[in-house]
Amino acid sequence: MLVKHPPKLLKGNGDFRSEECIELLKEADVVVTNPPFSLFREYVVQLIQYDKKFIIIGNQNAITYKEIFPLLKENKIWLGYGFAGNVGFFLNTQYEDYAKSSQHKEGMIRVSGVMWYTNIDIKKRHEDIILYKNYSPEEYPTYENYDAIEVKRTADIPCDYYGVMGVPITFMDKYSPEQFEIIGMCENLDLYHLNTRFYSPQECRDRYYELFGKKGTYDLNAAGVINGKKVYQRILIKRRAK
Ligand SMILES: C[S@@+](CC[C@H](N)C(=O)[O-])C[C@H]1O[C@@H](n2cnc3c(N)ncnc32)[C@H](O)[C@@H]1O
Repeated sequence: MLVKHPPKLLKGNGDFRSEECIELLKEADVVVTNPPFSLFREYVVQLIQYDKKFIIIGNQNAITYKEIFPLLKENKIWLGYGFAGNVGFFLNTQYEDYAKSSQHKEGMIRVSGVMWYTNIDIKKRHEDIILYKNYSPEEYPTYENYDAIEVKRTADIPCDYYGVMGVPITFMDKYSPEQFEIIGMCENLDLYHLNTRFYSPQECRDRYYELFGKKGTYDLNAAGVINGKKVYQRILIKRRAK
């Protein structure tokens, strides 16, 4: 049902957490908006708390937030369509746009790494990624600290491997829960009980010295490690048996 409000000013400051805004939220069937990125966690938690259907814009990095990732993992939210190359152009009167001239659009600001987050069912969630590569231990090394293989690109996920695999976070854009199960993520709190090896503070300091020739610390526990080096942020997934 579409509730039509005659235009009127809010009494308060319009903070989405205020009672006045929560009363308006309760009336909504679907929330479609571009919330403040800095309050994204709180915003999503509130939408879930009030059991709302939503389509909202968020930063790609929000995938790994410890409040957001479990919702993706449990298939309570997923990524929607849109934003080719994860680049958005927004109407803008406030900010200077630093986009390269070929990408500059008059009156708009270019924002990279943006995605739609939603809990409304869509077709791509039910579409398998077409896999064509074969597993080999040379091409897909195993992490030193996770019982999982490293897959650099979503398109390279091997079609004949049923163990745990580390894939880039952009995998989430292609994820179908019918094809894959999300097991966890490489992160330093071991929230998903997947770490097979922990590095001591001394090991982290020694590795930093080996790599950079000066004093510092290299947090090996924060990521999957191959040949003593951390790989980019990875989500750990597994194929569902068909
Ligand atoms: C990413 S901008 C999007 C603006 C507009 N929805 C659009 O799409 O052009 C986020 C907006 O949220 C507003 N905002 C920031 N903190 C807020 C809060 N606590 N409650 C409600 N809105 C807030 C900001 O002022 C800003 O206008």
